[in-house]
Amino acid sequence: MIRSRFSPLALLFLVVPTVLLLCVSATPTWAEPKLIEQPIAFSHKLHVSQNGIACQYCHLYARRSFSAGVPPVSTCLGCHGSNKMKIVAPDSAEVNKMRDYWAQGDPIPWVKIHDLPDFVRFPHKKHINAESSRFVDEAGQGCNLDKAPRSLECRLFQFRTGGDQRCQACHGAVPEMEVVYKVDDNFGSMGWCLECHLQVKGAVERKRTGSTLAGWFHAKENDAKREAAAQLVSDKGYHNSNMSDCVTCHY
Ligand code: HEC
Ligand code: HEC
Ligand code: HEC
Ligand code: HEC
Ligand code: HEC
Repeated sequence: MIRSRFSPLALLFLVVPTVLLLCVSATPTWAEPKLIEQPIAFSHKLHVSQNGIACQYCHLYARRSFSAGVPPVSTCLGCHGSNKMKIVAPDSAEVNKMRDYWAQGDPIPWVKIHDLPDFVRFPHKKHINAESSRFVDEAGQGCNLDKAPRSLECRLFQFRTGGDQRCQACHGAVPEMEVVYKVDDNFGSMGWCLECHLQVKGAVERKRTGSTLAGWFHAKENDAKREAAAQLVSDKGYHNSNMSDCVTCHY
């Protein structure tokens, strides 16, 4: 019999710590998110859930431009007032910090949380204004918001519901957050974008028929029929961009 040079006991000493190490290093799903410290303790929960302020009251560029934008100090001032005339929460130390920034003419140095590399094109407006009918019919079916709120089904469901729900499809339950954080570990990765883009009608079946012999003779008509069926042509007769083309997201 060939005896191993390692005794089973030695193996145990090797395996047990390795398994323990793996358990510790793997991010468990119950881990608290790492919260970034902001210059003012601004709470989305307080403003959105408790005081019913809509997302786009403050992030007013979301449907108009690439950037959703963080509101300027003057937006805060509209409700809270300046040092000279304090309105909502006159005695709050945190709101006073905001009033001081205003008095000095400085912007509030908020720390950015969601940030894509510069070689990626991400237009908020295209997402906020997209028709929900652009998705394949099954998209978002079978979502169980209690069980798996961040599953692809639920994100698609929220996106199709529209309104402030649409922001939550990508940013999570911001109305419940005291401090904003990234809810998806893979937020902003290429896979994260494509996972959804592939659920848009025509993203998969877009290949040209012209490349096959059968399609060659009637390539134009066949293409036109297929594109119309997949709703790839807008009401104005323009072609919608292909959701999985590199140039759609890269400069
Ligand atoms: C549409 C009105 C509105 C706008 C705009 C607004 N707030 Fe508020 N804010 C409120 C209300 C209402 C409260 C709750 C006050 C209370 O409970 O007494 C509040 C509470 C706060 C508090 C907590 C105060 C405390 O100590 O309890 C902070 C901090 C704050 N706001 C900061 C800001 C900042 C910074 C901005 C701008 C980015 C802003 N707010 C914009 C209405 C507004
Ligand atoms: C009263 C104004 C106000 C309202 C209403 C508001 N926000 Fe904000 N939001 C801010 C301010 C100020 C910041 C920057 C400070 C911070 O990160 O908390 C911010 C930051 C964010 C960020 C993080 C930006 C980054 O750096 O990546 C997201 C995402 C966001 N808001 C989404 C939402 C959504 C979704 C809603 C509606 C459910 C909403 N906000 C409603 C004022 C507001
Ligand atoms: C399809 C996904 C998606 C949707 C829907 C979406 N966002 Fe974003 N949001 C992003 C991404 C990606 C970034 C990072 C953009 C960058 O760095 O260029 C971002 C960044 C932000 C920021 C940081 C400032 C900025 O513009 O870069 C704010 C604030 C924000 N989003 C608010 C909102 C609000 C409010 C809504 C709904 C009206 C919304 N977002 C809808 C994906 C989304
Ligand atoms: C939850 C779904 C979803 C996610 C996630 C998502 N998108 Fe989109 N995206 C859409 C939809 C829907 C449209 C609009 C399609 C239309 O109406 O033509 C769109 C359109 C776009 C367009 C405009 C294409 C054009 O018409 O020129 C760009 C660019 C884009 N997305 C980039 C991104 C990037 C980059 C990411 C990841 C950071 C991303 N998207 C994440 C759903 C999504
Ligand atoms: C739906 C949007 C989208 C499409 C379509 C897309 N990309 Fe990307 N791509 C991204 C985003 C977002 C990132 C940034 C990922 C990150 O920061 O982790 C990225 C990153 C990359 C990178 C850099 C990887 C790195 O780690 O530096 C390369 C290379 C790339 N993409 C190539 C392509 C090619 C080639 C195609 C076409 C086959 C393509 N992409 C299509 C969104 C997209």
